[in-house]
Amino acid sequence: MNSILDKKSELLTLFTPGDGGDAPPFLAGRESEKQFFQLAVYTLMKKHQGYQNMIVYGPRGNGKTSLLHNLADNSSKEYGESIEILWVTPSEIRTPEKLDHWIRSEGREAAPVVQEITGKVKAFIAEATANLKIQRSDGIKTAIQERCTANPVVLIVDEAQRLDEKTAEDLLNASQTVRWKNLPFFLVLSGTPGLMSTLSQAEATFWERCEIFPLGRLSLQESVEALIKPLESFDIQFAENVAERVAIKTHCYPFFIQLWGKCLMEELVHKEQHIISMETVFDAESKVNMRIHQMYAKRFSELDDQELLHPAAEIARAFIYNENRPIPILEVNKLAGKKESVKKLEHLGYIWRVMRAEGEQLGYEPGIPSLMGFIKEQTAGLS
Ligand SMILES: Nc1ncnc2c1ncn2[C@@H]1O[C@H](COP(=O)(O)OP(=O)(O)O)[C@@H](O)[C@H]1O
Ligand SMILES: [Mg+2]
Repeated sequence: MNSILDKKSELLTLFTPGDGGDAPPFLAGRESEKQFFQLAVYTLMKKHQGYQNMIVYGPRGNGKTSLLHNLADNSSKEYGESIEILWVTPSEIRTPEKLDHWIRSEGREAAPVVQEITGKVKAFIAEATANLKIQRSDGIKTAIQERCTANPVVLIVDEAQRLDEKTAEDLLNASQTVRWKNLPFFLVLSGTPGLMSTLSQAEATFWERCEIFPLGRLSLQESVEALIKPLESFDIQFAENVAERVAIKTHCYPFFIQLWGKCLMEELVHKEQHIISMETVFDAESKVNMRIHQMYAKRFSELDDQELLHPAAEIARAFIYNENRPIPILEVNKLAGKKESVKKLEHLGYIWRVMRAEGEQLGYEPGIPSLMGFIKEQTAGLS
């Protein structure tokens, strides 16, 4: 008989609570983002034309990196060597000259390749380019132009909020010029909500006309799928309504979905069962809470270091009172006292602006709803 222990290692490593480096076992939702990207790549390949830039932004842990990896992998599977997907994380490439050099040399001889990501994807993480000798630069525009003469190019910039203003500006302007020339180039920028202020500061006002995707939490249905689908091939099931109850506990926050998945697997393997019951959930919960607590303790220190505990506590109380529904911008400004504090909280992903339905007021949502409760508890003594 096929004991669950045979699958032990596979199950224990199935869910991936992490930083998007390891793909989630099932990437739930994100349909409109996938569709937009697919159409962009289609246009590049079939019409040999560029496509409108794509901007993805959202608080940490919502799945930006995972989504981009998934999109890149799928395109690479479909079009193989005939498309170039370049991936850059600009921890060091912050100046136009460095980016220009990187675009020219990436994946070519003397390339600053550090790590090739999964599958056949021709994408590289370029963290280490800072130490390379920088060649004379004649601009990002020319670099892109040269790069996409052979094959269509998709340039993905993850953590793009770290680009300096000038580099962001040059990159956006270059992408626009290149597209006007009908060259097959597609730019994807992804980052925390801080990316929006980086772009606003860059003198390239047309960025607002890029296709912008705010990446929020998943829907309840999508969260349930993210928990159930990976287990199908293992013949493991949730008892009735249990997956929904776990999904609610995750707040539909992708990082917590993976964390819950992993802790549930640890319980199952430990008990040698193949049905996830409420008892399994209760037994896994203390482990989950311990990990979340550690993470929140870090977030608390971040807020403390930036002297943001007071406004964070005020906002937390208001969100709890409002059952975590969005709060209008002006009200949040008032709660925080200083506009500067709101900006900083937004930068940290503690709160972020959500696009609301037409006719509704713009508002802020908590980055992670349960963090509000933690901050409220921890700051109980503050007036
Ligand atoms: N659509 C999704 N469905 C299921 N899990 C996801 C999804 N997107 C992300 N995850 C998981 O959430 C966590 C955070 O994802 P990540 O891509 O690192 O987010 P970000 O780049 O926004 O910080 C990872 O553990 C990842 O496996
Ligand atoms: Mg990321």
